Amino acid sequence: MVGAMAEASNPFHDALRFERRVPPCAIVIFGANGDLTKRKLIPALYRLAYERRMPSGYVIYGNSRTEMPDDVYRAKMKESVKQFLEDSPFDEELWSQFAQSLYYVAGDVQDTAFYSKLAGRLKEHDQKTAGNMLFYLSTQPSHYEPIVGGLGAAGLNQGPGWRRVVVEKPFGIDMATAKALNRRLQAVFPESAIYRIDHYLGKETVQNVLAVRFANGIFEPLWNRRYVNNVQITAAESIGVEGRGAYYQESGALRDMIQNHLLQVMATIAMEPSAAFEPNAVRDERAKLLRSIRILKEEEIATHAVPGQYGPGSMGGKPIPGFRQEPGVNPEAQTDTYVAATFFIDNWRWAGVPFYIRTGKRLPKRVTDIAIQFNAAPLSLFERDNMGGNQHLARPNLLIIRVQPEEGISLRFLSKNPGGGMKLRPVSMDFNYGSSFGVRTPTAYETLLVDALAGDATLYTRQDMVEASWAVVQPILDYWNSHKFEFPNYEAGTWGPRQSDEMLDRRGHLWRVP
Ligand code: BG6
Repeated sequence: MVGAMAEASNPFHDALRFERRVPPCAIVIFGANGDLTKRKLIPALYRLAYERRMPSGYVIYGNSRTEMPDDVYRAKMKESVKQFLEDSPFDEELWSQFAQSLYYVAGDVQDTAFYSKLAGRLKEHDQKTAGNMLFYLSTQPSHYEPIVGGLGAAGLNQGPGWRRVVVEKPFGIDMATAKALNRRLQAVFPESAIYRIDHYLGKETVQNVLAVRFANGIFEPLWNRRYVNNVQITAAESIGVEGRGAYYQESGALRDMIQNHLLQVMATIAMEPSAAFEPNAVRDERAKLLRSIRILKEEEIATHAVPGQYGPGSMGGKPIPGFRQEPGVNPEAQTDTYVAATFFIDNWRWAGVPFYIRTGKRLPKRVTDIAIQFNAAPLSLFERDNMGGNQHLARPNLLIIRVQPEEGISLRFLSKNPGGGMKLRPVSMDFNYGSSFGVRTPTAYETLLVDALAGDATLYTRQDMVEASWAVVQPILDYWNSHKFEFPNYEAGTWGPRQSDEMLDRRGHLWRVP
């Protein structure tokens, strides 16, 4: 077990942990009654207030179409915060203070008149907010364009004070729509004011990848094709589509998880060190890496990308319906609820090293991790029998970065079993966030909201990054759209379709059981 050298004394109000100061501002959330606002955004903002990380002066406006007095909205959000605050306490007194800064403004985002009303409301708080404004687009994507256009027409894209816009995923449904969205955003806001959010980049352990790689001398020399045999990135979810059947049916796992979250994670694992820890320098390296991912040729897709869809099964002894039986889902849907893919990076560091990525719904458990599998020792001094057959397949040296639910890092290696003879056994050296630091880690949305308020875009994606990842995903989408698959091909509660194992087996590899 690795212990943190200095324990934080007060986990909630420790200034050293949260050095970042954020300026006063107004935050406008479009999509104020949506799932993301209720589950993530308002709980994250409340939590920031709890930790005294909100600016000295701030107001939060929720917008959606339904007419509603401020108090009703506040009461609704209070319930959400109580329900979704996860591992944090709810403080009535703090809530009452927080709620005084929370407002609601009804309006149809397609109606241009709404934006002058919004501008008027925001102006009332200018003294408190210094005219700074963060617009958060958390609506259905078809509303992004009218909102941005409306903000521009009302002059809300320009100061006094800074103006920024945070754009939720999905960022387009393919390369063409992503490019079009970029053009529309950039017609109103400069690129430096556009914050495309990918919440995986805000996860503490994903950020820690950069610290581990670039603050230590021991890992980087091994972090390349000479020593790394393959890399496996797994994002398994046990949940199904949770009432999002209609959205998910159109999206599928490739768009929902790979195009954004997992390619960004892969870029973080594989990128070169940046010249400085400064937003554009870091993002340049991520972008460069994304552009180096080899684009699969049509004839390679069937063997390099495996789609799956869950059928009925059981989990924890309970029967689970198949995807096609979920509400709102077409009984013949060709949607992928699982994807496994093999990617290669065409650069000097990684040439020839497979990066295996898989994600799926209704897998046996919720776990996201990254396993760097190192080459075997060049010569085996010990009998293979001691190691359960092929040493390389059975007992690789692994560095496992555990993103969730337990955050940490493990190094797996072989050790001599106590006693006579040279019997070997895999052992693990573990670092665990919870026990090492003894503090709660901020959620990705807390981190990313503070970053956007502070004007730090390091963990946000840029136009070139979004387009580079669409370039990787688009040929697979096109190929899948023109083929019919025999779905379902895995049972709910299992680790995905057999073809996924076969994909690794062709290279003599095995998926690690997370
Ligand atoms: C979202 C996807 O972006 O990420 C969801 O739309 C998915 O389908 C979620 O469940 C996973 O996020 P996390 O943080 O729970 O791993």
